[in-house]
Order: sequence, then structure tokens, then C-alpha cells
Amino acid sequence: MSVTVVNHPLVQHKLTIMRNKETSTAGFRRLLREISLLLGYEVTRDLELTTTRIETPLQPMDAPTLEGKKLVFASVLRAGNGLLEGLLDLVPAARVAHVGLYRDHETLEAVEYFFKAPSDLGDRLVIVVDPMLATANSAIAAIDKLKSRGATNLRYLCLLAAPEGIERFTKAHPDVPVFTAAIDEKLNEKGYIVPGLGDAGDRMYGTK
Ligand code: PRP
Ligand code: URA
Repeated sequence: MSVTVVNHPLVQHKLTIMRNKETSTAGFRRLLREISLLLGYEVTRDLELTTTRIETPLQPMDAPTLEGKKLVFASVLRAGNGLLEGLLDLVPAARVAHVGLYRDHETLEAVEYFFKAPSDLGDRLVIVVDPMLATANSAIAAIDKLKSRGATNLRYLCLLAAPEGIERFTKAHPDVPVFTAAIDEKLNEKGYIVPGLGDAGDRMYGTK
């Protein structure tokens, strides 16, 4: 079991602006994209490199390159797409999976409504992205689904986590390392992370 808190000053500064309820929808979206680049740096830190023969203006060399096609970013809809966009800027050759889940507001259970992923998940590193790990019902359901479709090598990247969510997630999927920008105080009685940033999907898309 591994949990990494990415406490880089730029990440923490941007997260504070995202938490602020006065931040606009456009500002929230822009910051989520910016922060995804910094979180992406951390979650991809140990990716394997291969080499490609190139010629610099001076001489040939075997230069390090990523095997981007071996990577899948799995976005948990809707809010996962805010992290996905920046990650694809970092690794344009990565493949993408979409896992459509929403939280039932009464039961807080995750309800699946869409799933589409590359067929050879077992051959790839799958980085699952969703800004919020609250009860962890959505994260656990997303990983259950990806594993049932063959994924064996997974990481989970979020922006904010609740201690309760971390505990449940790491018990359910101890083999999946978690990366987050912060672990907040707790969940409130409605299953929201506090102090948190509110409903990530609503803040990204201006819905309510
Ligand atoms: C939010 C968030 C996670 C989930 C986290 O999605 O993006 O997917 O809640 O909560 P949990 O850990 O308690 O499952 P939501 O269900 O609001 O859907 P949306 O992204 O479409 O708004
Ligand atoms: N989903 C969110 O978007 N925010 C929370 O605080 C909890 C779940």
C-alpha cells in the first residue's frame, strides 16, 4: 500500500485558489488543468524509458524516449476529464479509457453508466484519474471494473482525498498506489470532503 501526497508549493497554491468558492468556473477549469501537469510529473516519475536512434545536428545518438502507447489514462467521468486533458498534454501518445460513474446522492453508491477502454489493458500501466476521493465508492468501482477487464498494473491519481476514502480504497485495492495533492480533515454527513472544494464536476462545468 502506498499513498503519496504531492505537496509541491505550486500544487498547494493552485489548490488553495480552487478551494476558494469565489473562483469562477473558468478559473477552476484552468487551474485543474495546470495542476494536472504538476501531479502528472509525480505520477509518471518512474515510467520506463526505451531509446530511439536519432541524429542531433552534431552526431547520432540513442536517446531516451517514453513508450507512451503502453500507458492508459482512465478518466472517471465527469470530473476526471479535468485532469485527463493536462495529462494528455504530457503524454500525447497515451491511450484513454472512460469510466462513467455518478454518486447516488442518497446512498453515496457509485452508479455506472458508461465504460470504454482499450482492449489490451493487461499489457499497459493504467493511471486512473478523478479529482475527488471521498467515500472511495467511485474509485473502488472504477478499479474493480478496470481489473475485471484485465488491468493488473494500476495507479490512482486524485486532487483531494478524505482520510476515510484513503482507508477504504487502500483496503480494497492495496496493490494500487494513490497520488493526491492533499488529504483533508474528514467527510461530512453528506459524504462531501471538508474543508474540500465542493462538487468538482459542478465547479468544472458550472452545473448545479
Ligand atoms: C464525484 C467525483 C468522484 C466522486 C467521489 O463525482 O468526481 O467521482 O464524486 O466520491 P466518492 O469517493 O464518494 O465516490 P460525481 O459522482 O459527483 O459525478 P460527476 O463527476 O459527474 O459530477
Ligand atoms: N465528490 C465531489 O465532487 N466532492 C466531494 O467533496 C465529494 C465527492
